[in-house]
Amino acid sequence: MKAIRSINNPPQTTFKGTLCPLTLMDLNELWLLDLRVFTDGEAYERDTFRQLLSNQQGVARQIRSAEGKMIAFAIGVIEEDGVGHITTIGVSPEYRRRGLAKIMLLSIEQGFAVRGVTTVRLEVRTDNTGARQLYEQIGYTITQRMRRYYSTGDDGYLMVKAINGVNWGF
Ligand SMILES: CC(C)(COP(=O)(O)OP(=O)(O)OC[C@H]1O[C@@H](n2cnc3c(N)ncnc32)[C@H](O)[C@@H]1OP(=O)(O)O)[C@@H](O)C(=O)NCCC(=O)NCCS
Repeated sequence: MKAIRSINNPPQTTFKGTLCPLTLMDLNELWLLDLRVFTDGEAYERDTFRQLLSNQQGVARQIRSAEGKMIAFAIGVIEEDGVGHITTIGVSPEYRRRGLAKIMLLSIEQGFAVRGVTTVRLEVRTDNTGARQLYEQIGYTITQRMRRYYSTGDDGYLMVKAINGVNWGF
């Protein structure tokens, strides 16, 4: 359990929440939050989430508000080639720009690292400037533009980051 405070917010707007694993027990709440996060028809099916959260190679995180409501989620999976893949991330609209996405991504990267992952990849729509800036801020770089990557016909960027091993502190 970890209290979260955005370093960019002054003390009077300190946010207290909990970063914790996201599991199958959270499926319904996750699905409902995803519908609010991805309003452009890109929300995942409930079964897709079920599969992702059942995957033994998955590393998933959520953030809950002080009241216990799920307000953010992120899911990563270690692919067969050993690359960590961030498959989805979303933050409830009213909790954005507080560093929550960044915290979840760094935590997933740490989860990847303890399992020996050294490279992480993700895809982002070319017009999703906010998400792209988030990824760039924590070290991802665009390596490829993928034409018509999305079912809507939109292009995507492939972004990649090299991660270091875990610092165990000894
Ligand atoms: C993208 C998303 C996950 C970001 O979540 P967030 O918690 O608001 O992001 P953070 O607060 O951790 O942002 C960290 C940094 O990323 C960048 N960033 C994040 N959102 C941004 C935006 N809308 N515009 C510009 N920069 C943005 C900023 O550099 C920000 O730092 P700053 O607030 O100090 O300027 C959230 O906006 C969201 O859920 N969007 C809808 C779903 C989505 O697009 N998911 C990604 C699919 S690839």
